[in-house]
Amino acid sequence: MNQDDLKRSVANAALAYVPEGQIIGVGTGSTANFFIDGLAQMKDRIRGAVASSETSAARLRAHGIALFDLNDVSELSVYIDGADEVDGRLCMVKGGGAALTREKIVAAVAQRFVCICDGSKLVDTLGAFPLPIEVIPMATAQVLRALTALGGTPSVRAGVVTDNGNAIVDVRGLRITEPEAFEAQLNNIVGVVTNGIFAQRPADVLLLATAQGVRTML
Ligand code: 5RP
Repeated sequence: MNQDDLKRSVANAALAYVPEGQIIGVGTGSTANFFIDGLAQMKDRIRGAVASSETSAARLRAHGIALFDLNDVSELSVYIDGADEVDGRLCMVKGGGAALTREKIVAAVAQRFVCICDGSKLVDTLGAFPLPIEVIPMATAQVLRALTALGGTPSVRAGVVTDNGNAIVDVRGLRITEPEAFEAQLNNIVGVVTNGIFAQRPADVLLLATAQGVRTML
């Protein structure tokens, strides 16, 4: 099985977590794309979806899945999305696709976060994947200085503007041993919109694709 086969298998496994007749939250990325394609096969059994990015919204729309604005939805039973890294406590690093802010907002509303990954994403300690941070453009230089002072090596992701009109800074050289505290610390840097650590609201279920099958971690 190649990596796409693994992503497809875990995305299809996540369809079992989709409740009938409800609006669900849908993430962003290549694994989420496989999930959206699978969801299309059961679109008549859900009311619709809230998307975490314009890209996912377009894919959902192309499949004829009804889209809802999060402001018009009082609750979401489930949010299904991939991750760049996930640890054994189901804390994650996300934002490789630059959608971290909307992902964190949709995840915050959902009762249950189901993370879907291929096995390569499971790590002991977060930080090997460069940590994405969404930054207000006029604050970029000040945020880079603050991140350097914290021991990271930050760089602006070239040519990327988020769905919210902001920049993405990727921070290399971090070893995130206390993800909840570090997530809060990064949120306190003026000019940071969102950081890609999802520890204060980790996943509730991790579906991990391996060559032996899909493993469930709670
Ligand atoms: C997008 C994300 C994605 O969930 C993350 O980058 C994983 O992507 P993929 O499924 O393509 O490996 O956080 O902002």
